[in-house]
Amino acid sequence: MTRPTSRYVCQACGASFVRWEGQCHACGAWNTLVETLVREPGARRARGASEGAGDGAAPEPLSDLREPDLARRSTGIGELDRVLGGGLVPGSLVLLGGEPGVGKSTLILAAAAGLAAGARAAAVGPSATVDRLAAVERGAGPDQSLGIAGTVLYASGEESAGQLRLRARRLGLVDGPAARAILVLAETDVQRVVERAVALRPAVLVVDSIQTVELAELDGPPGSVGQVRECALRLLQYAKAEGVPVVLVGHVTKDGSLAGPKTLEHLVDAVLTLEGERSSGMRVLRATKNRFGSTEEVGVFAMGEDGLHEVRDPARAFLSDDGAAAPGSAIAATLEGSRPLLVEVQSLVAPVAYGTPRRTASGIDPNRLALLLAVLGRRAGIGLGGHDVYASVAGGLTIEEPALDLPLALALASSLRDRALPAGTVAAGEIGLLGEIRPVAGLGQRLREAERLGFSRAIVPPEHGRLAERLPDRLGGLQVLRVAALREALDLALGPRTDRSGGM
Ligand code: TYD
Ligand code: MG
Repeated sequence: MTRPTSRYVCQACGASFVRWEGQCHACGAWNTLVETLVREPGARRARGASEGAGDGAAPEPLSDLREPDLARRSTGIGELDRVLGGGLVPGSLVLLGGEPGVGKSTLILAAAAGLAAGARAAAVGPSATVDRLAAVERGAGPDQSLGIAGTVLYASGEESAGQLRLRARRLGLVDGPAARAILVLAETDVQRVVERAVALRPAVLVVDSIQTVELAELDGPPGSVGQVRECALRLLQYAKAEGVPVVLVGHVTKDGSLAGPKTLEHLVDAVLTLEGERSSGMRVLRATKNRFGSTEEVGVFAMGEDGLHEVRDPARAFLSDDGAAAPGSAIAATLEGSRPLLVEVQSLVAPVAYGTPRRTASGIDPNRLALLLAVLGRRAGIGLGGHDVYASVAGGLTIEEPALDLPLALALASSLRDRALPAGTVAAGEIGLLGEIRPVAGLGQRLREAERLGFSRAIVPPEHGRLAERLPDRLGGLQVLRVAALREALDLALGPRTDRSGGM
């Protein structure tokens, strides 16, 4: 057996040191080193873990390496599968992050039910008849040969078994076959969770949450960087050795990073983030890292009384219901991965009462907003230096793509002039430092979606540049208006300026 040794782990960046120091040499933070006990050789092995772990360290030619089995397991939730890149990959370690209360446990419990159902069907074979499935159902249980393959082990350190049952009732899972296939383990000792999992050989292991489990050998409390990382390493080791996918639920801390900042992100195969405003009910699931798929795709859900519902046609989900245009509002034709999403950008500008003007951005990169304000001032004569500026994307969505520039600029100008954009207008375009409108990717897709949703005018970049597609001036009921400069776009959208009062 290996002898535990002591390390001092920085709680901010996860770097470890042999000796205590007041300041972390890796990230420069003060008083963040915490003593943690680490079994050195164990930790080393886990770090180097790969497919076929345990084969020793003998190097092999690249040509002889076994390709991993990428037969994906469907979670039964289309939107989740989409973000995962087609389902859960055996032996992968997936981190599901999000703020407390956003719906991580709700999503993962529903996924556990879907995974259990899928694994059962696979265990009986694709030609399974209803009768055979029913037979498996009757004999289900951890000690039945078929039942084991079709189970999901749900280790819950966060909530009691009773609370989990209450949630399952809300989701309508307690009476279905899934109720027997999801085995709940109220356990916080990660070693014991792994032992259980090794004995049970479930189709999937869920750990909710990584911040509540601990490794007995470590001094630090659950949730500390050392614990979170070592527990994740232990689970990674299990996932790779047994070929079982492991899903970790992780809370995001106030500053927006997953607890144990950065230490888990490079350890796991995929990081999924669930985001959204609690009040709006809309939730967006993104992959911020995915070794087995694209990080471009998003999944859209609506939180209801009985769990998260997939929004299969989310194009409209982020538009306000009444559809009435108001000053300060503009509709952006955005593209999330391969999926066009029409979202409402809102802004409010008001003369500054006293002191420095405020700039508040929500769902928008604040630096991008600052840059746009500068370009609006210098290139379009819209000076907002004396105004407070608030800008947000409706529905709690975060949009990072450059095509948001033009609709955001239109929203700002519309708010300043207190004039609404004509109803039925959408916009997409990146704005350069010279006030030029630059092409965006996938313009055709965005426009076709806008047309489908009944918009009548689209203000888009001119038809040059490598990204521009050849598109007609009219797509069904949608008139395509190409603009080369910000001024032109503003005149087109809001009409030429009537007043000549300098800043306005
Ligand atoms: P939860 O999954 O517990 O969040 P997390 O695990 O991310 O902390 O979700 C909690 C919130 O979701 C809570 O405020 C109640 C709400 N909710 C619903 O609106 N409908 C439901 O069916 C469920 C189960 C929860
Ligand atoms: Mg939870």
